[in-house]
Amino acid sequence: MNRSMPIREFLPLRDPANPLHPPREVYQWRDESRINKVRTWDGTEAWLLTRYDDVKQALGDERFSANPRRPGFPEKNAAYAANLGTDHNVRTMDNPEHGIQKAMLARDFTVGRLQEMRPAIEAKVHKLIDEMLAHGGPLDFVPHFALALPVEVMCELLGVPMTDREYFAGLSNQTTGDAESPEKSAEAGRKLNEYIDGLLDVKDKTPENDLLSRLVVNQLRTGALSRADIISLGRLMLIAGHETTAHQITHSTLMMFLYPEQRRELQETDDPRLIRNAVEEFLRFASITHNGRRRVATEDVEVGGQLIRAGEGVIVMTNMADRDETVFEEPNTLDIHRHNARQHMAFGFGIHQCMGQLLSRVELQIVHSILWKRMPNLQLNGNVEDLGYIENTSVLGIKTLPVKF
Ligand code: HEM
Repeated sequence: MNRSMPIREFLPLRDPANPLHPPREVYQWRDESRINKVRTWDGTEAWLLTRYDDVKQALGDERFSANPRRPGFPEKNAAYAANLGTDHNVRTMDNPEHGIQKAMLARDFTVGRLQEMRPAIEAKVHKLIDEMLAHGGPLDFVPHFALALPVEVMCELLGVPMTDREYFAGLSNQTTGDAESPEKSAEAGRKLNEYIDGLLDVKDKTPENDLLSRLVVNQLRTGALSRADIISLGRLMLIAGHETTAHQITHSTLMMFLYPEQRRELQETDDPRLIRNAVEEFLRFASITHNGRRRVATEDVEVGGQLIRAGEGVIVMTNMADRDETVFEEPNTLDIHRHNARQHMAFGFGIHQCMGQLLSRVELQIVHSILWKRMPNLQLNGNVEDLGYIENTSVLGIKTLPVKF
């Protein structure tokens, strides 16, 4: 790797007074140099891509591998590294293997399947709001709503019994979250595998209309996938599907507290197009997968004028691409009417683009078309500076969101 550039320590913390924005150091680095060189938590060096065009190019170029077992791959944190070897699934596979496995999951992510799930999601949103109103304020919005909704939706998608949801939500958080304690992460990962393993037996005996049942019937029984493959996939879904959506709900709710005029518009509108556009803008603005997509070059590739050699890692900052002023006018301002909000890369780009994007879009649209109307007095109970941010994980989280109403 070229040593003439300064090496930046990655990832700096964000400013607590402006938590919705990426750290200001990353903007400064980008002003100084289009491509930067960074050092990650374990000393691995990698190239940092932050410009929209560079991000799109790298994620669309299969000469960059998503396989963390390749030398030079810049792993996200100690928790991910501790689980290396037990997470062989679409997220970490390259083609042709990736395409084959993704096709097996397609049936559960179609518009048709979402339409089947929509009434259940709407009912869950109303139920959680009823419970908050019955409980009375103040309360913490994260466990009462933002985390509770996606957990229930994931149960529905996968076919996980409701009685187990707290158990697996806890394990899922520990598997990716607790970067300070890799042993704990690895232990949680093992328990998660055991849990899904047991559930596969249940699905084999009594298959239902859910993702795990379909994998058992169509792939396991035919020998197309092994039990280990299905466990890894089930686990990926749990982790990829609930934390992300939960943090996105929390962030978008916080945005509405901070931009009261736009919140009033959502409260008063019956126009589904405005709700849809607002959700795209929430995704662009928060871009919660703040830690960058991780890849390693398998051949020499030039990006943004920089030669990246085979074996060198790249950290692809989709959240910075979403703040690129050459694509988004006044990118650091939230605007639910933004004409090109949907061009964001919050769900990534290329072959690894998020499988659950339709589902999380529908969840967010349902939330923002119901929440503000049913809870017109919902407000932040405290100061933005005091919100605890979870920054060392793959997904940017807010620990608690105290609200009153
Ligand atoms: C707001 C919520 C969500 C956000 C912001 C999000 C973001 C992302 C991003 C950025 C990627 C690309 C990873 C990469 O390029 O390395 C991804 C992949 C993925 N997401 Fe999501 N996601 C969300 C919700 C979901 C949900 C609800 C599910 C499942 C039900 C899901 C399942 C997946 C899967 C399986 C992948 C891997 C796809 C592949 O590698 O081919 N995600 N997600």
